[in-house]
Amino acid sequence: MARVVAIDGPSGAGKSSVSRIVGGKLGFLHVDSGALYRIMTWQALVRKVDTDDPDAVAAFAPTVEIECRPENGAIAYYVDGEKPGDRIRTPEINAHASQVATVKAVRDRITAILRGLTRFGDLVVEGRDITTAVFPDSPARFYLTASAEARARRRQKEEVEKGIANQSAETVKASLLARDAIDSTRKYAPLRKADGAIEIDSSDLTLEQVVDIVLGKIHETFG
Ligand code: DC
Repeated sequence: MARVVAIDGPSGAGKSSVSRIVGGKLGFLHVDSGALYRIMTWQALVRKVDTDDPDAVAAFAPTVEIECRPENGAIAYYVDGEKPGDRIRTPEINAHASQVATVKAVRDRITAILRGLTRFGDLVVEGRDITTAVFPDSPARFYLTASAEARARRRQKEEVEKGIANQSAETVKASLLARDAIDSTRKYAPLRKADGAIEIDSSDLTLEQVVDIVLGKIHETFG
């Protein structure tokens, strides 16, 4: 049976960096589940589906073909033979992704894709409902959080460094809080700390410190 490390938390809490490093150190494949929700959102916008209409989004969800391949220590996604790249990281996708992620047909589809990835081996999976809904039985479950200010600062820096956008920290914070609100109040699989998950507040910790805490707990769990 493949082992799964599950990491949830709000945007900007550091899940991606921590998951990538932890996966690399353990030889577990890194799985970014948010990218799947972003791909669904991107395709919905490309195909002019009204993302505020849950029925339209539900009808469209099964029509998106996403191919998953292990590549350089992570699961890479392809749509029509192409990697989405930074096309799924724009402010426009940020503005619509949480809404698309409220639709049950989208969540069911992505949950099935994520569970199927264990065929490739051990995984570190990060997202919003991995510890509560996708892999709730994993013995290694983490809830990574940080203050809204710290999260907005990190996201803004990342957007500028990658050349994706040049928004103020205040604008980034407002967008992030709007998404948090939708993600944690939605009907299906809302973002919450799972019972038994280990909570880490990374506001005043370095990336290395968070990685050390996570690795320490994983070694206690998996030996
Ligand atoms: O982690 P992210 O910012 O790339 O996630 C994009 C959106 O997808 C976010 O608004 C919440 C949603 N999401 C989700 O509902 N469940 C997950 N497991 C991962 C992401």
